[in-house]
Amino acid sequence: MTPLSTLEDDRTAALAAAGDAGRVDDAFLGRFDEQFPRLHRLFTQLYGGRDDGQDRLSELIALASTSWSRRPLELKVRDGARLDQPDWFTSERMLGGVCYVDRYAGNLAGIRDQIPYFRDLGLTYLHLMPLFDTPDGDNDGGYAVSSYRRVNPSLGSMEQLAELAAELRLAGISLVLDFVFNHTASNHEWAQKAVAGDPAFEDFYLIFDDREMPDAYEQTTREIFPDDHPGSFVQLEDGRWIWATFYRYQWDLNYANPAVFTAMAGEMLFLANQGVDILRMDAVAFIWKQLGTACESLPEAHLLLQAFNAVLAMAAPGVEFKSEAIVHPDEVIEYISADECRLSYNPLQMALTWEALATRDARLLQQALERRHSLPAGTAWVNYVRSHDDIGWTFADEDAAELGIEGGAHRRFLNAFYNGRHEDSFARGVPFQENPKTGDARVAGTTASLAGIEAGDPAGVDRVVLAHAIAMSTGGIPLLYLGDEVAQLNDPSYADDPARRDDTRWVHRGQRPRDRYFQRTDLETDAGRVFSRLTHLIAVRHQTPEFGGNDLVGFHVPKASVLGYQRPGTDGQVVLALANVGDEQVVVDPLTLSGFDRTARDIVHAVDIDLDEGLVLSPHGFAWLRVRAL
Ligand code: GLC
Repeated sequence: MTPLSTLEDDRTAALAAAGDAGRVDDAFLGRFDEQFPRLHRLFTQLYGGRDDGQDRLSELIALASTSWSRRPLELKVRDGARLDQPDWFTSERMLGGVCYVDRYAGNLAGIRDQIPYFRDLGLTYLHLMPLFDTPDGDNDGGYAVSSYRRVNPSLGSMEQLAELAAELRLAGISLVLDFVFNHTASNHEWAQKAVAGDPAFEDFYLIFDDREMPDAYEQTTREIFPDDHPGSFVQLEDGRWIWATFYRYQWDLNYANPAVFTAMAGEMLFLANQGVDILRMDAVAFIWKQLGTACESLPEAHLLLQAFNAVLAMAAPGVEFKSEAIVHPDEVIEYISADECRLSYNPLQMALTWEALATRDARLLQQALERRHSLPAGTAWVNYVRSHDDIGWTFADEDAAELGIEGGAHRRFLNAFYNGRHEDSFARGVPFQENPKTGDARVAGTTASLAGIEAGDPAGVDRVVLAHAIAMSTGGIPLLYLGDEVAQLNDPSYADDPARRDDTRWVHRGQRPRDRYFQRTDLETDAGRVFSRLTHLIAVRHQTPEFGGNDLVGFHVPKASVLGYQRPGTDGQVVLALANVGDEQVVVDPLTLSGFDRTARDIVHAVDIDLDEGLVLSPHGFAWLRVRAL
């Protein structure tokens, strides 16, 4: 075994290993020259103390070179196009959709049949929830992966997935898949070998003979799924303890071992070569552990991401990473850069949209847009109203304190409000992972059920539309949870399924609601009202270049229920977005709007309006106005 040495020595060794593995082509060599110094520095920081550092790095380069040589030609062409236009995903034409393959369409063939609908809807991005081989029964909705190279046979095959990716590409839709790289299922081959004591794999996971180390780590780690098990470890049948941040059958990989990095990079490149455009970096905050810390968002987690990014840049350069870091906003932002992930979920905007709807007060959201929305050039938010996961109140206590709001009490209020324990609530949510020790909880429920449609609140439809209007206009890729566009309601039947009843998130992961899709053209129904208004907004967004990119300037209306921001355009024009989260009509007076030309174009209704008359915002109403700043 050889440890890492100088850049030059390690470069020579890596190229020799790549040469032994097959022909190294010029295109690869060019990118290797660009990326290797970075990768070498990262490997030295992460694995400088290991005696196998150079071997693993050489293996990695050989693997990257082979993977590139096997990359299908059409994907190489796509790489070229992406490199020519690296900010392709910031366009106002982008619209994402997300669904479970089985729940939405039965299997991959069913998803293929939905392509015409996806096109009609205007999707340019489709996230298929984890579709890999997984243990039967308990599998965390596919996030317990038994093999990254096999599609769950009940959904289809890897060939079908690659074909689907090609068809989506033709339809102008990028395929997004999860890269579940923090953990594997306990029945993954590596996990089985690790437990059996296979020397090549025993260091792949964090396994301890007794409670000494687990107890020490748990002094400072958070409980993520306390309903399943306390702390961060679970006990193996032989009495030992293994790290499991999430469910007991999802075992965390040990990235302090460079063999783990190299092995996972191999799985990543395999997926990239199936035609995936964006990899969703699942549970990214948890990938590095260090005694005495929270084991979340550590500096090494960033080094690891940068190293994965360098490998991708060598062997699949058109593919992007999307960060899934549902943590404090100061930490979320650290994952977003050309060096790490150029896309990221925007959990703060999501949570604060719901916060504003509950409180009828938009100030926290306004503050977040002004303070925490800005991003490095060439990166983008993914803005969602809800996802397959719970809603957690991830705002910063410091931010809330500035508005006189105490974070802990406010979270308790929001949980009570959305979980239907507050007398004035319109929401029909269900608590997720309530922790009696800490009082923490999160919220499950579909958009329509949380917004009041299930409760029969007459404002429910308006709230659904308003929440989406915000996600579509602040900047970034708006992401629809498919089914939300027809106001899908909670599905309580998960409670009858033994594999699902302990995870309340299934309440908002119902089957594709066929009845509601049938009703989508009927304006007498909630499904029809939501669908017609959302599809109209999608069409308007599509024709509004100001909604591309991420630039945003706050606009203050002296009324706590009104959210305001401007999206700059060209020639002094901006789109002014105003949203009223309150239950009362608001008139924005001419003085407040005096910084603009008197004639404004209401781009939602395609009419000109005179700002001297002020602007009326109905309860839960909003306006998108193209105006010229004076
Ligand atoms: C991510 C997924 C979530 C899953 C967890 C563990 O947070 O979004 O659904 O339970 O990772 O994989």
